[in-house]
Amino acid sequence: MNAGPSSTTIVDDHHRGALVVLEGPDRVGKSTQVERLAQWFRGRGRSVSVSREPGGDALGEAIRTMLLGESVDGWTELFLFLAVRARHLSSVIEPALSRGELVILDRYTPSTLVYQGAQLGEELVTQLATLPVFREPDATIVLDCREPLAALDSADRFEHSGLTGWHERRNGYRALARRHGWLLISGDGPPELVTKRLVETLVKRVTG
Ligand code: TYD
Repeated sequence: MNAGPSSTTIVDDHHRGALVVLEGPDRVGKSTQVERLAQWFRGRGRSVSVSREPGGDALGEAIRTMLLGESVDGWTELFLFLAVRARHLSSVIEPALSRGELVILDRYTPSTLVYQGAQLGEELVTQLATLPVFREPDATIVLDCREPLAALDSADRFEHSGLTGWHERRNGYRALARRHGWLLISGDGPPELVTKRLVETLVKRVTG
C-alpha cells in the first residue's frame, strides 16, 4: 500500500470533484482496487487523488503508525480515528475536491461504524462519526468477498480475531450497507473483473 496520498496539482476545469470510498473487511483487495480504479480514471483524462485512512498526510500517517501498533482503550481509539479523518478532510480531501479531482479513499466512515461500532455501540458511534464535519461521499462501495483473499495477520491487532471476527465484520458491512445506502460489489474473481464491476458502478456517479 502507498505511504500516503498521491495527487496531481492541475485544476481540472472539466469536472466537479467527487469523493469515492472503497470499504470492506481486511484482505478483500481494497488497496489493489483503489490503485486500479485510479489508473482507469487517469487513463481517461480524469485528475485523481488516492489516499487511505487512517492516514492522508504526515500527521495522519504518524497517528496511523501509533494506532495500528499500540493498543489503546476503545474511546481513545475512536477519537483518534475521527481526529485523523477531520485532519484528512481539511488538509487533503477538501482541497483536492475544490480542484475538481476524483478522490478515491481506502476506508473512511464505514470502517468506524463497523469496527468501533461493534466495540462501543453502534448508535453513539454513528452519531459521532456522522457529524456534519465528516463530508458524505458521492459513492461508498463495499467490496464483498465470501472469504478473505489472503491470510489474515494474527499479529495485526485489528485482524487477530481470525476468521470468526472477519465474518462478523463482513456481516456488519452487509447489514449497514442496506441502512446507509452503501453499494455492495462482489470482490470475488480476478482483479480485472472486480475493477470492471467497480467502473460500471462508478462511471455514472462520478462523471460530470
Ligand atoms: P488497513 O488500512 O486495512 O491496513 P493494512 O492493510 O496495513 O492492515 O488497516 C487499518 C485498520 O484500521 C483496519 O484493520 C481497520 C481499522 N480501522 C478502524 O478500526 N476504524 C477506522 O475508522 C478506520 C479508518 C480503520
